[in-house]
Amino acid sequence: MARLPQDQRYSGVAIAFHWIIALLAIVNLAVGLLHDAIPALGALMPGHKAIGITVLALTAGRLAWRLAHRAPPLPAHTPAWEKGLAHATHWTLYALLLLMPLSGWAMVSGTEKRRPLDWFGTFDIPYLPVSTATGGAAHEAHELLGWLMLALVVLHVVAALRHHLILRDNILARMAPVLRR
Ligand code: HEM
Ligand code: HEM
Repeated sequence: MARLPQDQRYSGVAIAFHWIIALLAIVNLAVGLLHDAIPALGALMPGHKAIGITVLALTAGRLAWRLAHRAPPLPAHTPAWEKGLAHATHWTLYALLLLMPLSGWAMVSGTEKRRPLDWFGTFDIPYLPVSTATGGAAHEAHELLGWLMLALVVLHVVAALRHHLILRDNILARMAPVLRR
């Protein structure tokens, strides 16, 4: 079938931001949640921190782009509750894409014994000027918000698959670089 018209799909920039950030955030969720149970993953934690800072920078760019460009409207027949749930999920995910890196950064900054913090060995990332009390609260937030993010990502993926496989509409196709419907 034909490719969707431009005004009914996300732009190439929005699609690139979506999938690069989704991949990085899913890797970080997995490494973060599993590193206690699988001690070997501890070696990946410097990468977890560098990936998280990358997500923060990319999300700042993505949000600036998003606020300047409209998303394609949802199909007119979408029930109001579903539109509301989709918008709430998307904007909460944007908030979490900022809050997860910021809380992680604050956690590793506000601790008694700081570990080296660098971006894949290329340059040092400065520590945030926070107290150990703030660092402790940020640690709690990082864990709690991590579970919230996992739940919302699962909901989001189930919703995308429901649209594609059951409702058979264009919702997944319009965020996909190649998929057609
Ligand atoms: C997309 C961004 C990020 C996501 C989705 C994420 C997710 C997670 C999750 C789910 C955990 C497990 C929480 C726990 O059980 O305590 C975790 C742990 C951790 N994260 Fe992140 N994180 C991100 C960014 C960062 C950043 C930017 C830093 C630091 C610069 C960081 C540092 C840490 C550390 C040190 C731990 C281990 C905490 C512990 O062992 O108690 N994270 N992360
Ligand atoms: C950590 C992973 C992910 C995050 C943080 C995330 C975040 C987001 C956000 C914030 C939007 C809203 C875009 C906007 O209108 O501004 C969005 C849209 C979308 N995402 Fe994700 N996403 C993730 C993973 C996925 C995955 C794995 C799929 C597919 C299975 C997916 C499918 C979609 C689709 C189809 C849309 C467009 C919805 C629409 O047209 O209204 N996402 N995503």
